[in-house]
Amino acid sequence: MTQASSGLPALHEVFRDAFKIGAALSMGTLSAQASFIAKHFNSITAENVMKPEEVQPHEGIYTFDAADRIFEFAQANHIAVRGHTLLWHNQTGDWMFRNSEGEPCTREQLLGRLQTHINTVVGRYRGQAYAWDVVNEAIEDKSDQYLRNTKWLEILGEDYLREAFEMAHQADPDALLFYNDYNETDPVKRDKIFKLVRSLLDQDTPIHGIGMQAHWNIYGPTIDEIRSALELYASLGLRIHITELDLSMFRFEDNRADLKAPTVEMLKLQEERYAEIFAVLLEYRKVIDSVTFWGAADDYTWLDDFPVRGRKNWPFLFDVHQHPKASFGRLVDLAASK
Ligand code: GLA
Repeated sequence: MTQASSGLPALHEVFRDAFKIGAALSMGTLSAQASFIAKHFNSITAENVMKPEEVQPHEGIYTFDAADRIFEFAQANHIAVRGHTLLWHNQTGDWMFRNSEGEPCTREQLLGRLQTHINTVVGRYRGQAYAWDVVNEAIEDKSDQYLRNTKWLEILGEDYLREAFEMAHQADPDALLFYNDYNETDPVKRDKIFKLVRSLLDQDTPIHGIGMQAHWNIYGPTIDEIRSALELYASLGLRIHITELDLSMFRFEDNRADLKAPTVEMLKLQEERYAEIFAVLLEYRKVIDSVTFWGAADDYTWLDDFPVRGRKNWPFLFDVHQHPKASFGRLVDLAASK
C-alpha cells in the first residue's frame, strides 16, 4: 500500500487551521518522494536549484529547467512555493563581484547585476512564488560583529539589504518578502536580527517577515529560547516563517559517526522535542504562516554530510522508508488537542 492510499492523515491537514507545512526539495527527492511529498506538504522550497549560482551560473546565462520543474510539480498538486534565495554570500557565482579584468567590480555594476538577477528570477515566477527569502544570512555569528563581512557589504555597504528588498518588491509587489537566517534563537544573534529588521522597517523597506531557519537538534535550543525569539520577532508586527526546520540527532560539536540507525533514546528525545516545539509554534500560529522542513523524510537530508562527512542523520518526522515515526503520531495528537 502506498502512503497516498493509506489511512494516514496528511501532515498538512493536521495543521490546516494553523499554518502551511512545507518541505525542501531536490531534483532527487522530487523523483524519489513525489507522491509522498504531494500527500503530506502544501508548501515547497527548492533546496538548491533557485539559488543565485544555480539560476545564473554565468552573467546573462540563466538555467531555469530545474526550478521550472518544481513549479510544475507545485501547480499540478496545488502546492504553494517559497522562493529561496535572491541574495546570499554563498552559492553565488564569483562573476557577480568582478569586472572583466577579474578585479572587484564597482558599486554601480554590482547593483545593476543584482537588479537584473532579481527582476529576471522573481519576474519569471511572479504570482507563483508566494514568498521569497530575499536576503539570506547577512548577520555575523561572532558576538562582537554586526553584519557578516561579505562581498555584498564590502562593495555596496550596509544599504544593500534595503536595495534588495526594494528590487524584489518591484519585481513582484504581491510576494511576501523575508529576511532568513540560522542560529536565530541565539540571544545575541537574535537581537542583531531584530536590530537589522527594525532598521529596515524604519527606512520603510518592503519587508514582510522573518524566516527562522530552525536547524535545531534534539538537545537544543531550549523552548524558552525559541519562545523568546518568536516573541521578539512577532513584536515587529511582521509574519514569521519557519523555513528550514530539522532536528539533528547530534549536537553540532558531536563528531560521532558510528551509528547505522538512531538509538531508541534518540528517537524518544526527538519525539519529545517535536511535540514541545510544535506546541510553542501553535501558540504563535497567529503570526506564523508556514513551517517548512529542510527535507521531507530521513532517506535524504543535507545533514547526512554536514558537519561530519558521510555520517547519516535522521532529522524528520518520517523515516528512511517515508513511514511516519512516533513523532508524527505525537503531532497528530497535539494538533487534535489544541
Ligand atoms: C542554509 C541555506 C540553505 C541550505 C542550508 C544547508 O541554511 O539557507 O539554502 O544551503 O544552509 O542545506
